[in-house]
Amino acid sequence: GSLTGLDLRAEIDRLRTEKNAVILAHYYQKPELQDIADFVGDSLDLSKKAAETDADVIAFCGVRFMAEVAKILSPDKIVVLPDMDAGCSLEDSCPPDQFKAFREAHPDHIALTYINSSIEVKALSDIIVTSSSAEKILSQIPMDQKIIFGPDKHLGGYINRKMGRDMLLWPGVCIVHEAFSETELLKLKALHPDAPVAAHPECPPHVLDHSDYVGSTSGILNFAKTFPGDTLIVATEPHIIHQMEKAVPHKQFIGAPGADGNCNCNICPYMALNTMEKLYVSLRDLEPRIEIAEPLRLSAKKSLDAMLSMAS
Ligand code: 13P
Ligand code: SF4
Repeated sequence: GSLTGLDLRAEIDRLRTEKNAVILAHYYQKPELQDIADFVGDSLDLSKKAAETDADVIAFCGVRFMAEVAKILSPDKIVVLPDMDAGCSLEDSCPPDQFKAFREAHPDHIALTYINSSIEVKALSDIIVTSSSAEKILSQIPMDQKIIFGPDKHLGGYINRKMGRDMLLWPGVCIVHEAFSETELLKLKALHPDAPVAAHPECPPHVLDHSDYVGSTSGILNFAKTFPGDTLIVATEPHIIHQMEKAVPHKQFIGAPGADGNCNCNICPYMALNTMEKLYVSLRDLEPRIEIAEPLRLSAKKSLDAMLSMAS
């Protein structure tokens, strides 16, 4: 097409300066997108960056709910998402009308909600959490406060067990983390008996039970930089291994397998929609843009502001 022959890296650099844009990328993005970004991080880091930036344009290499958070916190900026179809299975598993009915069925509960959710569900919630902030935030909520937690039942279940809570869980899952195979993981552990396993709390309990470290993407990356051995099994989306290999090149990082014995089925299909070509076009055209009606933005912002103040 018309993009052949373009030096995409150079063009993206030129447009970034010309449009006074900042490029934010999640750890699950393709290596070339991580490498061209001004900042790479987990969902909490990225929302803080979006709230603080003085750029005119935020080009968000991640999924749509993350770009929406950027727009909610920085409404005067243009926020572009290279591919507007970059959704999230957790968001899809929690339709706002059903979540509203769930809330109404439990009027004495507050709603603690994972950031991997639609803007409408955020607007129906009291406090948003990310995987890196959930425990800190929950520890500030009295033990006798009744809580509903959605959409991720595995993250909710993990926090319930770890913190002795009994939050009522919405039955949502992430299709990516759900796909790890316990049998294949045990086979891999047998091949690498000294390698610890680091897992994201979106993994089901049969994966978390075999893990030595459980945490957010930034937590897992930090573990990869500091663990004492030389091989690590990584039970989260495998694109994060790019940052590990850059930070600790002499160590070996192995993606935990799915049922087919390799880690390719654990690539997030939504994150994978963003490409260098689409990033270039989104900076050139300042489209596709995230646009949010102001009343909805203000309602969703309340629960996000609660997160930012309780997480800091
Ligand atoms: P983190 O907040 O840990 O980066 O997780 C985001 C995500 O989508 C995990 O699947
Ligand atoms: Fe959503 Fe799972 Fe992809 Fe994260 S990895 S964006 S939770 S589908």
